[in-house]
Amino acid sequence: MQPLDRREFIAALGGAAAVSMMSHEARADALEEALLARSNGMSLALAAGASAPAAEAAKKYPTVAEIAAKVPDLPRRSGTGAIFYGATNGKLPLLDKMPAKPTLLDFFEQRFQRTRNHVMQSAALALKNGMDEEVVLACLLHDTVQELMRSDHGYWGAQLYEGYVPERTLFAIKYHQALRFYADEKVGYQMPDFYNNAFGIDYVPVAHVQRDYEMVRKHKWYDAPRSVTVNDLYAFDANARVSMDPFVDIIGRHFKNPKEGLGNDNSPNAHMWRTLANPDAPL
Ligand SMILES: [Fe+2]
Ligand SMILES: [Fe+2]
Repeated sequence: MQPLDRREFIAALGGAAAVSMMSHEARADALEEALLARSNGMSLALAAGASAPAAEAAKKYPTVAEIAAKVPDLPRRSGTGAIFYGATNGKLPLLDKMPAKPTLLDFFEQRFQRTRNHVMQSAALALKNGMDEEVVLACLLHDTVQELMRSDHGYWGAQLYEGYVPERTLFAIKYHQALRFYADEKVGYQMPDFYNNAFGIDYVPVAHVQRDYEMVRKHKWYDAPRSVTVNDLYAFDANARVSMDPFVDIIGRHFKNPKEGLGNDNSPNAHMWRTLANPDAPL
């Protein structure tokens, strides 16, 4: 696997000066989006939300003031879920109509198009590394909520899956976001060099990430979100195509598909599934 090109990544974000003005969380999210997009064969510039001409301009390293002035003209907020953008030549793709009683596999097939390659690679690696099924399932689901919302995606992801997966799987989804910033030599997880380059060696995570890391590192289930970060880190390969077959039985054993279909079961989070099913609804 080729490492992410740091210069290309920074240029795609608007140059070093612009990156220095971003919060650490924003940089982390931008990096994750770039890696996600690369696993789907997109360019880093497009992953960073720039149009092709804007990406060309970005390579000239605009000033911070220039970047700040462009914010009102950006095509979307950086935290926007992937399903709400992705136009090609100015045209959004039409989404297939979902079955009347959609299952998790239907969402993978029809709505998780931007995240599935990455999460399936992560889950395949977790399987290969002998992780237990609750962790493999967490790896399979850990970034899928980025279709709906990218900001604070661990927390949004836990909300989306609450009630449908084991508590330990939910815990892993929720806290993988915080743990990605903290090394754990015992399990071979280190902040990769490109994180130090992109975020700065003096990186200090935001308060809620620090707080949750301090809680999670002493928790009996620490291994679960940590395993997501370990198997997440090396899972990006634009050329890899992973089959869902190894995960179908794991989903069957651990994911509670409601008989009414996801979105139709009147659960507290059913609306999140309905929004994923129909992001074109105006209200
Ligand atoms: Fe993530
Ligand atoms: Fe990930």
